[in-house]
Amino acid sequence: MAKKNVLDLCRMKDSDEKVSWITAYDAPIASLAEQAGIDMLLVGDSVGMCVYGYAGTNEMTMPIMLAHTAAVRRGAPDTFVIGDMPFLSYQISCEEAVRNAGSFIQAGADAIKLEGGRRITDQIRAISDAGIVVFGHIGLTPQSSGQLGGFRAQGLTAESAQAMFADAEAVEGAGAMFLLVEAVAPEVTQLIRQALSIPVYGIGAGPHTDGQLLIVSDLLGIFTAFTPKFVKRYAELAGTIKDAFAAYCEDVRNGGFPGPEHVYNMPQNERDKLRADSAK
Ligand code: KIV
Repeated sequence: MAKKNVLDLCRMKDSDEKVSWITAYDAPIASLAEQAGIDMLLVGDSVGMCVYGYAGTNEMTMPIMLAHTAAVRRGAPDTFVIGDMPFLSYQISCEEAVRNAGSFIQAGADAIKLEGGRRITDQIRAISDAGIVVFGHIGLTPQSSGQLGGFRAQGLTAESAQAMFADAEAVEGAGAMFLLVEAVAPEVTQLIRQALSIPVYGIGAGPHTDGQLLIVSDLLGIFTAFTPKFVKRYAELAGTIKDAFAAYCEDVRNGGFPGPEHVYNMPQNERDKLRADSAK
């Protein structure tokens, strides 16, 4: 399938064709996603939780995110890839935001995503003015989950929904070409999507979107520390992986592995020579 660009994604919105979007952190998974026809890949800072074992995402740094972005690009050369700007890579100044966003593009990303609404419009504008495609991200924003009181749904009151609405309009007004809404009530997502002209994607934001995002480790059933309400698991790989490890363990202990088919064989004449030499 040909690699999608921003025009294809906007055309999909116009024709009401939903975009399938997952996170990816490494080349093999990115490659499988591409082969399966997934439309977009997010190299999310959720890698901090799903791969590095942190309780949140704020330990992720630019070098870590760039290494994962390059791996995903190598695995999925023909898929639209979004790099997720980590904590403190864009909050400090517009100059740092532009430089770091540019580094994602140089590592192979087609676009970047950053968290926040009205309070980061200067950064969104600066990155867009540098010619980089920006995805906004509002609602539950994990990098500021401390201020939100944890990973919890947002916009559940009329007042907070109005604030989110203002954030969505500000993000679009600042030049973001796409918006991701996380963990909000479907009615709020619907209102945002109706008001904006850019594509609005959701993760835990209900069905009224231009596409859905899921975290790959949730989708595959690998991340088992907790499962957000909005997750649908399409596989239960944790059990499959544990069973495989246990079977390997058992085989090693009882001599079932390696078998004759797993060894490199010397040619017969070399074997004879070795035997004769060692008999001397
Ligand atoms: O890092 C990530 O995977 C994300 C999603 C939770 C939206 O930002």
